[in-house]
Amino acid sequence: MNNPSNNGLLTTIIIFGASGDLTQRKLIPSLFNLFRKRRTPKKFHIVGFGGTVFTDEQFREHLRAGVKEHANFAFTDEEWNIFAPNLFYLPGKYTEKADFTKLAEYLSKLENGEANRLFYMALPPTLFPAIIDNLDASGQLKENGAWRRVVLEKPFGTDLASAVQLNHQVHKALNENQIYRIDHYLGKETVQNILFTRFANTIYEPIWNRHYIDHVQITVAEKVGLEHRAGFYDGVGVLRDMFQNHLLQLLTLVAMEPPASFSAAHLRNEKVKVLSAIQPMTPEQVSANTVRAQYKGYRDEAEVKPNSTTPTYAALRLFINNWRWKGVPFYLRSGKNLSEKQSQIIIQFKEPPLAMFPMQTMKPNILVLYLQPDEGVHLRFEAKAPDTVSETRSVDMEFHYAEAFGQTAIPESYERLLLDALQGDAALFTRADEVETAWSLIDPILQTWEAHQTPPLAAYKPGSWGPPEGYDLLARDGRRWLNEETSMMLEK
Ligand code: BG6
Repeated sequence: MNNPSNNGLLTTIIIFGASGDLTQRKLIPSLFNLFRKRRTPKKFHIVGFGGTVFTDEQFREHLRAGVKEHANFAFTDEEWNIFAPNLFYLPGKYTEKADFTKLAEYLSKLENGEANRLFYMALPPTLFPAIIDNLDASGQLKENGAWRRVVLEKPFGTDLASAVQLNHQVHKALNENQIYRIDHYLGKETVQNILFTRFANTIYEPIWNRHYIDHVQITVAEKVGLEHRAGFYDGVGVLRDMFQNHLLQLLTLVAMEPPASFSAAHLRNEKVKVLSAIQPMTPEQVSANTVRAQYKGYRDEAEVKPNSTTPTYAALRLFINNWRWKGVPFYLRSGKNLSEKQSQIIIQFKEPPLAMFPMQTMKPNILVLYLQPDEGVHLRFEAKAPDTVSETRSVDMEFHYAEAFGQTAIPESYERLLLDALQGDAALFTRADEVETAWSLIDPILQTWEAHQTPPLAAYKPGSWGPPEGYDLLARDGRRWLNEETSMMLEK
């Protein structure tokens, strides 16, 4: 990979929300690892800004502890001691104009000349407009030779109207090409590999359509529950937290047309196109094509309202109305407190048109993209069982990252995303119209769920694979969730 100091200038990364969890767990470990791999700009500073009062030394110590605990690579003091002098801290209030004048002066002094700046918003989106206004008013977003970029953490809005408004507010001070909206799923190696599976090979494309594919299943199951985030989660729920961003992003990568190139513009055009080909649901369709559920005991969790109807599980049946996919159901499912952590995409192909062999069991081929854990790709197909006349048995062709590339091959998704933002490559970030199109699909579902409480909120046992209603959604089409079978494929 190239060194990102593209214009040769010093680069300053300014993190708002620097005393928070994300900075300690993800951002600094990722930046430190980029530094270890010599991928950070040659000259750089990282400046934390936040409400907590730290000296530079205290900030460095706080981050050191975080990296030691959370990094997925071996920590050494030797490397940290070379990295740490690049870290600085300035306490301040996000809504206080004067603190941003102070920040501007502080940065000018620290940089001592022209420098690029990457502003990272590691805090709730309600604070973005005030921070961007204050950065703008203190002249910190103007690009004269050096670049200015802003990374925005999710969630980007809570519905279509709030996302449109947020886009409007950030566009007052920034051009779209300065904005990097994070969806950390796009930084995952296995998620990027969906595009490589499809477009770095020739064997899939001819069969990647309604003529050969029966249906697609996308499961992002979490074993964890609320993890002390009830204050954020209750009232938000699984559709806003996981579907509007991560699951719909996975769908776009599976379903999009081949882009003209791997550039941000071409890639994101195709993603918007495929999202636009999904019809927003009517209330009747919401009743028939969605399942919402809450795990038993959710209402007893600390900070959850005793009568909360926030869904912790959802399943959707979507159709993409274009030439490639017309009539092929996409079943999407995600939930907390499920049986295990498991993200996978299953492409089920059509059954052979007839059973030619007398003892043949009719089984369709399936291609499984295992996103996490045990990342890899499997293809299930039928073979003749030896020493039988004509019995068939399902067998498996498989690729595992750990086997093919070694245990350490998969970096933290934030590493790639931070590097791309530093290099000015927005391909793995979501564009304004993409976010809004995704919300336009989620909004009608939320409205029917929240205003009409339809379909009724189902319940499921913690540690299960979700409510019976989730199985019924596929059973009505004569299908079933295949993940338990595909997990067995993984264990073999
Ligand atoms: C986040 C959600 O975006 O993704 C969390 O807010 C969820 O609720 C997390 O747990 C899942 O991410 P991952 O990388 O662990 O699959």
